[in-house]
Amino acid sequence: MQFYMEKIELTTSRCYFSSNDEEFVGFKEDVEQIIQKLTKGTKERKVISIVGMAGLGKTTLARKVYNNHSVADHFDVHAFCIVSQTYSIRKLLFEILKQATGEKRDMIKEDEDVADTLRKALYGKRYLIVLDDMWNYEAWEDLQSCFPCVERGSRIMVTTRIQEVAIKMSDPHFLGFLTEDESWELLQKKVGLRGTILDKIVKHSLGPQDSVT
Ligand SMILES: Nc1ncnc2c1ncn2[C@@H]1O[C@H](COP(=O)(O)OP(=O)(O)OP(=O)(O)O)[C@@H](O)[C@H]1O
Ligand SMILES: [Mg+2]
Repeated sequence: MQFYMEKIELTTSRCYFSSNDEEFVGFKEDVEQIIQKLTKGTKERKVISIVGMAGLGKTTLARKVYNNHSVADHFDVHAFCIVSQTYSIRKLLFEILKQATGEKRDMIKEDEDVADTLRKALYGKRYLIVLDDMWNYEAWEDLQSCFPCVERGSRIMVTTRIQEVAIKMSDPHFLGFLTEDESWELLQKKVGLRGTILDKIVKHSLGPQDSVT
């Protein structure tokens, strides 16, 4: 029998495998609380959403938690995918399948039922799926039937800017701003300011009462 293959270009679903821990700033309590929600509590499949405005650090926080050893060790399978506004369900499911099973192919059979393959691959496993940057609830309606509800403590972690999406999907975790000191620390790290002459000039111009160490 001949199979027609469809080339999948993963433009709407990328994955993260590394985190830059040295660059991560603040959100200590958020990290702890989310780790608790992921690894403790109900055995039922649960959705955890991180909600907040653009650029607040939702993806950074989700990636930090996802890469935490106690989280990674707790689950049998993991996947971290970006949904975004212009997602393709088929590509997304295929990317989750690849990450969850370690499958290497980047071709999908034209008549392949990816949703069913994914459902079977996840069945009976304790899985952690991160859906980064969700924009609408319809995306979740399209995806959720692929995530089996077997009582193994599986978790789906979502990041979104849209409160209604977070509220409809789960008990949301509202992300706040970094403190002033943390924001300064992040800026220093991002622009490589720490310890430089410019760093001293900025501190000097702020004056002793305003300077941040
Ligand atoms: N706590 C943090 N530690 C280190 N870097 C951070 C932190 N918060 C945000 N950043 C940096 O700020 C930028 C934006 O963060 P991020 O992409 O996580 O925001 P977001 O909330 O997911 O935004 P969006 O709604 O656009 O998806 C990134 O470059 C990230 O590295
Ligand atoms: Mg993001």
